[in-house]
Amino acid sequence: MGYRLGDGEKNAVGSDGGFPLAVLTPTPRAHPTPVASRRTLPIEGREGYTPTAMPHPPLRSYGRIKARALKPRQEKLVETLLPSLALDLSKPLDPKALFPDAREIVLEIGFGGGEHLAAQAAAHPERGCMGVEPFLNGVGSCLRHIEEAGVSNVRLHMGDARDVIAALPDAQGDFGVDRVDILFPDPWPKARHHKRRLVQADFVASLARVVKPGGEVRFATDWANYAAWTLEIFTRDARFAWLAESAADWRSPWPEHVTTRYEEKKLGDCAPVWLRFSRGG
Ligand SMILES: C[S@@+](CC[C@H](N)C(=O)[O-])C[C@H]1O[C@@H](n2cnc3c(N)ncnc32)[C@H](O)[C@@H]1O
Repeated sequence: MGYRLGDGEKNAVGSDGGFPLAVLTPTPRAHPTPVASRRTLPIEGREGYTPTAMPHPPLRSYGRIKARALKPRQEKLVETLLPSLALDLSKPLDPKALFPDAREIVLEIGFGGGEHLAAQAAAHPERGCMGVEPFLNGVGSCLRHIEEAGVSNVRLHMGDARDVIAALPDAQGDFGVDRVDILFPDPWPKARHHKRRLVQADFVASLARVVKPGGEVRFATDWANYAAWTLEIFTRDARFAWLAESAADWRSPWPEHVTTRYEEKKLGDCAPVWLRFSRGG
């Protein structure tokens, strides 16, 4: 059976600034049916809570692409190291050719300063790690982390992750992306900006195309509305199942999580919410 919150937990949820889930109904655990199926969230009815398919091409989901001038070391790394790591999107991407020895392929979308990406690559040399970030200063910082960590299993794209996903082949059988990390994406909290959020139905469909059966998408946010929005959109897509069996699953980071810069800033309106979605076979 899936997970249902007990009365005590219902009262606790939200009161500690956590994810305000109220009603979870039990469902059979057969994959890919979501292990926990949500009927209503107290957040529904709030202004602008209307995750729907976007009737227009994707809007820009990020803010600035450059801030202050790069530090000399980072500027040099952008000139010298970035070209050798950059993904070539002028033709379809071939993950096997990019990472011939990799046993897993992980894509981090919006890596910010790159501390998580570089740490994951260092901890898992058996993985091929692709990172995407349009913010030049973030890319400069990431290159510094990559150099300091001495890792060679990272490839980067300075730009929009949706372009990288579009260049990836269809997942088939054992071939495809093993994991996608989306950590503290731009929340776009105002209702009129929700259309700029990265997570939209079309975006989730594009992930379903490239993530291999049994693969996973990990999403974290400290904005309650974005957590509910994301849960709604992923659970509407039958190809993904929400991997939650107890409240601890969305309240605690997954093992080996590396704290990110935005996570540390605590700019959101709730404690971080950690959502894992499995791609059905
Ligand atoms: C709030 S920051 C979080 C950065 C980092 N993940 C962290 O937790 O510190 C969100 C990042 O996502 C990036 N971003 C937004 N839309 C993106 C897109 N379509 N493709 C790739 N990155 C994107 C932004 O440039 C920004 O650096």
